[in-house]
Amino acid sequence: VKTYELALIPGDGIGVDVTSAAMAVVETAAARHGFGINSQQFDWSCAHYLETGAMMPEDGIETLRRFDAILLGAVGWPQTVPDSVSLHGLLLPIRKAFTQYANIRPHRLLPGVQGPLKADAFDILCIRENTEGEYSGAGGRVHQGTLNEVATEVAIFTRAGVERILRFAFDQARSRRGHVTSVTKSNAQKHSMVFWDEMTRLVAQDYPDVTVDMMHIDAMAARMVMAPESLDVVVASNLFGDILTDLGAAIQGGLGFAASANICPDRSGPSMFEPVHGSAPDIAGKGIANPIAAIWSAAMMLDHLGETAAAQAILSAIEAATAKGIGTRPGSHSTDDITTAILAALKDNA
Ligand code: NAD
Ligand code: IPM
Ligand code: MN
Repeated sequence: VKTYELALIPGDGIGVDVTSAAMAVVETAAARHGFGINSQQFDWSCAHYLETGAMMPEDGIETLRRFDAILLGAVGWPQTVPDSVSLHGLLLPIRKAFTQYANIRPHRLLPGVQGPLKADAFDILCIRENTEGEYSGAGGRVHQGTLNEVATEVAIFTRAGVERILRFAFDQARSRRGHVTSVTKSNAQKHSMVFWDEMTRLVAQDYPDVTVDMMHIDAMAARMVMAPESLDVVVASNLFGDILTDLGAAIQGGLGFAASANICPDRSGPSMFEPVHGSAPDIAGKGIANPIAAIWSAAMMLDHLGETAAAQAILSAIEAATAKGIGTRPGSHSTDDITTAILAALKDNA
């Protein structure tokens, strides 16, 4: 039987609860669909940092390289470790090292979930650039601590990096409703976003069957609330995509519903699957985190691995549970109740 090697990084806070829920679902799906999962867990986290002085060992990236996929919970515990240390010590280096340049984040309402909007028929696929842009780490501080202090954060956009994410988005549109919305801020930013717009026009020439519109991030934020049903594929830079996908999560009914896949499209390294949300210190340890985002992310992982029937079965099980009102409102059900309902639906269907 085909067996996949899976690296499991629960991380911090509710990351631990939601990855354990996702693993239970993945293992049940594997048993029912005739494949194996060989998982190895890594306790890389802020607690690990406090013990060892590092978020992951020096050879952490090399250790992950041999795996078929990585399932991650959440990283960050700002009460004890600054976010700039924890995220740059674990999550962000993995995305970069394995060229997981396409961060795919679907936004649609699950059955039974009442979102905050009147519109309920939207189906948005956000494609977020995941390796460069505003997250390049370039820049610095001069005259630190003086009245003349200056801090810069240099956003780096390469031709290769922008072109590949745009092509990825246009390819996704081809298998959906054939529409791409490219998001920039080229009215205020004079270099990178103007370049991104130019590349959008250039790449669009290769996709005459795909319609494209270009919007500024501010107008886009309003459109996602006012007319989300008018959107199909949305492509944006690293930071803009980060912000828009928490907004996407909100119109889905909350962070507990938003899944994500950090894809290395040429498969030169493993891809990583994780919910959009973070470690949620405000609810950590209470057993009330919604595991649906993590379980949906795990379904995206199985889809990426080629186990499309299992992935579809998990999505159907999530939908069967929410259709019954389980996990649809914050705090209405525990993490375990939601997981149990999804496992039961999975066993009914397959
Ligand atoms: P967050 O996503 O952790 O929480 C934001 C709000 O959403 C909180 O009120 C939280 O309770 C709620 N929420 C999040 N996930 C939920 C779930 N599954 N079920 C129910 N409610 C949920 O964002 P934050 O508070 O800004 O960040 C906390 C920490 O996580 C920080 O260290 C941050 O840097 C980190 N973070 C990590 C990731 C990641 O690892 N991918 C993503 C975002 C934030
Ligand atoms: C996300 C998170 C991360 C990001 C943070 C924690 C660095 O917000 O995955 O959306 O900005 O990419
Ligand atoms: Mn985010």
